[in-house]
Amino acid sequence: MRIPLIKPYITEEVKEKVSEVLDSGYLTEGAATKELENSFKDYIGCEYTLAACNCTVGLEMALRTIGVGPGDEVIVPDYTYPATASVVEIVGARIVLVDVDPQTMLIDYEVLESAITEKTKAVMPVSIFGNPLDYERLTRIKEKYNIFIVEDAACSIGAEFKGIKVGNLADISVFSLHPRKFITTGEGGMITTNNAEWAAWMDSYKHFGMASRDSRAGIQFNQIGTNYKLSNIQAAVGLVQMKYVEELLSQRQLLANNYMQLLDNHPRIKFQKLSTFGVHSYQSFCIFVKNRDKIMIDMREKGIEVQIGTYSLHMHKAYNKNTNCTITGKMEGSKYAFEHCLALPLYHDLSTDEQEYIVEKLTEIISQED
Ligand SMILES: Cc1ncc(COP(=O)(O)O)c(C=O)c1O
Repeated sequence: MRIPLIKPYITEEVKEKVSEVLDSGYLTEGAATKELENSFKDYIGCEYTLAACNCTVGLEMALRTIGVGPGDEVIVPDYTYPATASVVEIVGARIVLVDVDPQTMLIDYEVLESAITEKTKAVMPVSIFGNPLDYERLTRIKEKYNIFIVEDAACSIGAEFKGIKVGNLADISVFSLHPRKFITTGEGGMITTNNAEWAAWMDSYKHFGMASRDSRAGIQFNQIGTNYKLSNIQAAVGLVQMKYVEELLSQRQLLANNYMQLLDNHPRIKFQKLSTFGVHSYQSFCIFVKNRDKIMIDMREKGIEVQIGTYSLHMHKAYNKNTNCTITGKMEGSKYAFEHCLALPLYHDLSTDEQEYIVEKLTEIISQED
């Protein structure tokens, strides 16, 4: 038996929709992209959505639109995918890395607050693996220090805090539509905000700086921009998946709960702690284990694809040898998460038999440890 980590939701309906777009001859950003944006807007309940060619450039645009640039500092959790921090340097600002809570793997709010200086323009918390943040606490910090919150919501489609969906809780949130996410366009990103001015600025920026795209009125370029559009072909894939977003999400939550029941009370396994008042999207189902690397190799040898959670950025040269990056404290929470976190297979048609097999092999391997 071979069990992958993820499986994108690609059905006949998806293929038909892609064929329809191909037959239309309209392949760049178009009606399917607009429909995808609208489906996100309806689902999340926010005012504006902008599709982009990936989450990373979406985060970059978000920082640019709130005016982050040289001389500014942006606070980023150390335990995240490099994209979150690299965009800070790309827009010319200083990266300030802070630790995470080792149980939730979310930014440590106290350390975050202590890292704020006069130069801090924004914080980029990450709702890691779909675990929502404490947005009330973040909002209090935002208001106290007059800074912006740009959420890296790469993994968080469907996550909630006190009944409000992620994407409607920060100044700007950015989702990823990479194939490891359960709604995917191959490569893709979705930006959400309730600020009309920012939405208009980003819309112009991702269209080469166009002020108006109404050809009758004459196209005007009012600012320098770039091309961060999402094609109609890619959007068609995500558009069909969005029809089933509720089902796909509840299926993930069921599977995650089943893992927790099967592994409950295991003396050598801990779960990621759900943040208070949150609904987890379980983009990844993560456990903490000792000897994670060895367990990962053994599981893969048995045909079960497991994966590390994500990276501890301060351990990498791009950050620890970077004079434009401040590393705050010892990063013990981040290091713990990096060394112990293991993501188990989770996808729409993972069966309970397969889950039982995964758990059987995992517990067998763990019992052979020391
Ligand atoms: C937390 C986080 N941020 C950003 C990204 C980058 O997303 P993308 O590949 O869509 O640019 C990822 C990718 O997995 C991620 O996990």
